[in-house]
Amino acid sequence: MLIKKAEDIRSSEITSKSLYLNRRKFLAGAAIAGVAAATGVGLREVVTPSTTVLAGAKIDGIKKSPLSTTETVTPYKDVTHYNNYYEFSTSKDEPAELAKNFRTQPWKVKIDGLVDKKQDLDVDTILKMAPAEERIYRHRCVEGWSIVVPWVGFPLSELIKRVNPTSKAKFLEFTTLYDLNQMPGQQRHVLEWPYVEGLRMDEAMHPLALLCFGMYGEELPNQDGAPLRIIVPWKYGFKSAKAIVRIRFTDKQPVNTWNISAPTEYGFYSNVNPNVDHPRWSQAKERRLGEFLKRPTLMFNGYGDQVASLYNGMDLKKDF
Ligand code: MTE
Repeated sequence: MLIKKAEDIRSSEITSKSLYLNRRKFLAGAAIAGVAAATGVGLREVVTPSTTVLAGAKIDGIKKSPLSTTETVTPYKDVTHYNNYYEFSTSKDEPAELAKNFRTQPWKVKIDGLVDKKQDLDVDTILKMAPAEERIYRHRCVEGWSIVVPWVGFPLSELIKRVNPTSKAKFLEFTTLYDLNQMPGQQRHVLEWPYVEGLRMDEAMHPLALLCFGMYGEELPNQDGAPLRIIVPWKYGFKSAKAIVRIRFTDKQPVNTWNISAPTEYGFYSNVNPNVDHPRWSQAKERRLGEFLKRPTLMFNGYGDQVASLYNGMDLKKDF
């Protein structure tokens, strides 16, 4: 993905960032001590060389989904310390630290556009819409790495059905939080902010498309998209927007952030496709985090039997 060059970053930004990090570390340490003392339960401590990461509380009553892969799950530490989250940083090892104190409560999601009832839904209301399921999915980044994650959520279709889109709604547009105080990466113009992604209505209604609020049986860690993100396992990872604050129903194909940034490199559909190379690299193979040898990338990330029919008659080289 495009990354801002070092010369574009002012030295004043670097200084303020290190001060900022130290303050965050101090605050996080105080928060952990306080919460642990108050409750004594519900925390998982992941010790890293520099600090301790506070992960989410356990989610109860999760159903196992038959749609899960039986492939080996990627270790929690890798999935939570190798993240693409440009609102925090363009470095993959930084969002874990920089997002540590990100506030995910209170959190509202605006539902608007072509729906019967426009409304601001509290995230807790959304979480109660359907039973939580564990879905172990392959997740393939457009950059060539992949992971297998036990996400927790429920089908996105459950939310869509409850908010009653009108018959004119053909697409959904997902918008991420814009908050310069909390998301230091937004102070740099590495992408258009806020981060926007989109899906066609039939893609969003597909049973594999997940509205996700947890992983590994716990609430989502901030760096993985808390409190709410989508997961679209047959598409490159950038379609799976994190920290969603708005879902707009529309009759026009949304313009997604990565497409604005590099239209010849990142399309709207972005289905995992080993036969269509990225202009700067091959997509034929991928490296699973934690493994040495590369493995072949599968068409639609291995979900072709379920989703290929969504694209009948389309030229996937043109609609990449
Ligand atoms: N969502 C937001 N809001 N900001 C981002 O930078 N990065 C995307 C996607 N969702 C991104 C985002 C990309 S490029 C990938 S590969 C996945 O998140 C990574 O998800 P993960 O960090 O949970 O593995």
